[in-house]
Amino acid sequence: MQKRRRTVDANHMSLAAPDPLVDASVFRFAQRMGRLRASAIREILKVTEMPDVISFAGGLPAPELFPVEQFALACAEVLADDGPAALQYSVTEGYPPLRHWVCEYLERTNNIHCTPDQVLIISGSQQGLDLIGKVLLDPGDSVIIENPAYLGAIQAFDAYEANYLNVGTDDEGIVTEDLVRVLRTAKHKPKLLYLVPNFQNPSGITLTLRRRQEVVAIAEEHGIPIYEDDPYGRLRYSGQHIPSLTALSASRHCIYMSTVSKTIAPGVRVAWLVIPEPAVYEKVVPAKQAADLHTSSFTQRAVYAYARLPGVFESHIKEILPVYARRRDLMLEALQRDMPPGCTWTRPDGGLFLWLTVPPEVDTEELLALASKSKVAFVPGAPFWVNCDVRNTMRLNFSNASDEMIVEGIERIGNSVKAYLDGAR
Ligand SMILES: Cc1ncc(COP(=O)(O)O)c(C=O)c1O
Repeated sequence: MQKRRRTVDANHMSLAAPDPLVDASVFRFAQRMGRLRASAIREILKVTEMPDVISFAGGLPAPELFPVEQFALACAEVLADDGPAALQYSVTEGYPPLRHWVCEYLERTNNIHCTPDQVLIISGSQQGLDLIGKVLLDPGDSVIIENPAYLGAIQAFDAYEANYLNVGTDDEGIVTEDLVRVLRTAKHKPKLLYLVPNFQNPSGITLTLRRRQEVVAIAEEHGIPIYEDDPYGRLRYSGQHIPSLTALSASRHCIYMSTVSKTIAPGVRVAWLVIPEPAVYEKVVPAKQAADLHTSSFTQRAVYAYARLPGVFESHIKEILPVYARRRDLMLEALQRDMPPGCTWTRPDGGLFLWLTVPPEVDTEELLALASKSKVAFVPGAPFWVNCDVRNTMRLNFSNASDEMIVEGIERIGNSVKAYLDGAR
């Protein structure tokens, strides 16, 4: 028999017998669900949905720059020329012409040589993180990640009960001496080295060429596969293109991933994995099949049709770069003007984010509560840090707000930091 216990309704708490029809304990959760830590940021981001809030919190590209008209043309062409197939089930590996296009595109833009049978079209890069976790990670297996790390990767690998070995970063990306130390002292050989080498989320830092060469050599020497996540590579506003880890590696041990989310639009949910090792590819395909059968036949064709409109994709990228570059510059200038002494920030050469470190006495989760009163929002940095408790950082997105909002919003954050410090002293 079940015990009497407290049940809660919307208005009051009462002692009552459990109603067997709404007894949630009928669902017994898998142990791994205890690891999922989605809610912290989701709760925080509710602030950003309030009217009049200037938000630097989301990872959102600028919607006014989405190529809506030309994407509509591509969609119309797909439905007119290939409608029934675009609306039918399809193969898990992806639409073959799109897989060919990915190879040509990666060769042209990134010097990555791959063949269509190494390309798997996925429903956003986020799915790739889940699939690679599913295929490679047993509970307790170690993944080496940079610190701070992309939260979405932590969430994906958490579901497979990964253990994290964190490598420190400086303004050249992960510190290779630290990577060697982590590898030498690991109790069990790590399964994966996961990196975002270009304009990292959250820090905006780019791994330098020298460090990339070292990382590739170290990973080869220790027999550790590299998982290179590159959603931002095409969004470079300053400095020179740096070859990807995959292009620098002579082995089949790099998995490369990119997406149209930041170049076309994230709602399209089309991305790709390049998996040169056939033994891994063969496992990832049924893992994807189990997850969603295949990525939408329609959107894959629409991306392909869009990419083939003469000159359109590249001129779209040329159009968005100066806008994002200006927003980054405005944010950097505003930080210089408005932040009190003791604050530092990264100066990204591309991507969507920069990373602000405030004086150590400031807890940015508390600061957000203060800042939201003056209607400005950011993402507190604590959830991005792995195996350590760092409270005085935040991620700022510079792509989504207008010029005026950037100037105004940074001034408000600066004032909030000053007010917090005044209150703390
Ligand atoms: C590093 C990184 N990987 C993956 C993703 C997910 O991208 P997608 O929209 O392709 O799922 C993001 C999104 O912000 C990201 O920053």
